[in-house]
Amino acid sequence: MARFDGKCVFITGAGTGIGREAALAFAAEGARVAIAEIHAASGEETAHRAGNGAIAIPTDVTDPGSMEAAIHRAVDHFGALHILHNNAGGSTPEDGSVVDAPIAEFWRAIKLDLFGTFLGCRYGIPAIIRAGGGAVVNMSSNLALMGVAGRDCYTAAKGGVAALTRSLAVEYARDRVRVNALAPSATMTDRVRALLSGNAALGAMSNTHLLGPIEPTDVAQSVLFLASDAARKITGQVIAVDSGVTIS
Ligand SMILES: NC(=O)c1ccc[n+]([C@@H]2O[C@H](COP(=O)([O-])OP(=O)(O)OC[C@H]3O[C@@H](n4cnc5c(N)ncnc54)[C@H](O)[C@@H]3O)[C@@H](O)[C@H]2O)c1
Repeated sequence: MARFDGKCVFITGAGTGIGREAALAFAAEGARVAIAEIHAASGEETAHRAGNGAIAIPTDVTDPGSMEAAIHRAVDHFGALHILHNNAGGSTPEDGSVVDAPIAEFWRAIKLDLFGTFLGCRYGIPAIIRAGGGAVVNMSSNLALMGVAGRDCYTAAKGGVAALTRSLAVEYARDRVRVNALAPSATMTDRVRALLSGNAALGAMSNTHLLGPIEPTDVAQSVLFLASDAARKITGQVIAVDSGVTIS
C-alpha cells in the first residue's frame, strides 16, 4: 500500500516549481490531487503528468470566492479533503528595502503569500475537519527565520505565514488537524534561477548552502513528510529546508 493511498490533497500554485513537484510526488504515492493554479494551462499539464485522477482547478488564491469554490469543487470531486498544501507565492525583483520597495509590491506579497494562505486555511480546514482530521503544510521561507537585506515585502509576508501556522496549529489540534510550514532557502525553480541572477544579496546567500543547491524535489519531499503519518506528533513547526543556510 502506498503512503497516501485514499488521501485527497489540495495544492495551490502547482502549475510549476515546488508545487508541481509536490503534486507529482503525492500522486506517485497514491494520493488524489487537486491542482489549484491561476495559470490554467500549467495546472492542466501538472494534472496530466501526475495522473492517478488528478484534477486541475483554475484558482486565484487571492480571491476568497475563487478559493472557496475551488475547495468545494475538490471535495465534491474526491469526496473529502485530507491534506492542504498552501504553496502559491513567491518574491519578485520588485522587492527591496522598506524605504525603496514600491508600496504595490508590499501588498502583492501580502495578498499572494499571506492572504492566499489565510484563505486556503479558511476554506480548507473545515473540509479537513469534516474528513476526520489531516494536515496543512504552508509555505514560508528561510527569510522568516533570518535577516536578509533587500526582501522586506516578501519577508514580512512569509513571517506572517510562520506566525499564522503556529496559531492555527494551536487552534485546530483538538480537531486533529496538524498545521506546519516549510522554510526553504533559494530553491532552483525557473523563477528563482532568474531572480538569483539579479539580486547580489540573494546570490551571496545561496553560495553559502552547506549541502549544495536545493532542488524543488528536496522541498516537495519535506511537504510529503509533514503531510504523512510519520509526522503525526509534529505541529506548529516552521521547518527549514535550507541546506544549512540559517545555521551558517
Ligand atoms: N523557490 C524558492 O527559492 C523558494 C524559497 C522559499 C520559499 N519558496 C516558496 O515556495 C512556493 C513555491 O515557490 P516556487 O519557486 O515553486 O514558485 P513558482 O513561481 O515556480 O510557482 C508558483 C506557482 O504559483 C502560481 N500562482 C501565482 N499566483 C497565483 C495565484 N494568485 N493563485 C494561484 N496560483 C498562483 C504560479 O502560476 C506558479 O505556477 C512559494 O510560496 C515561494 O514563496 C520558494
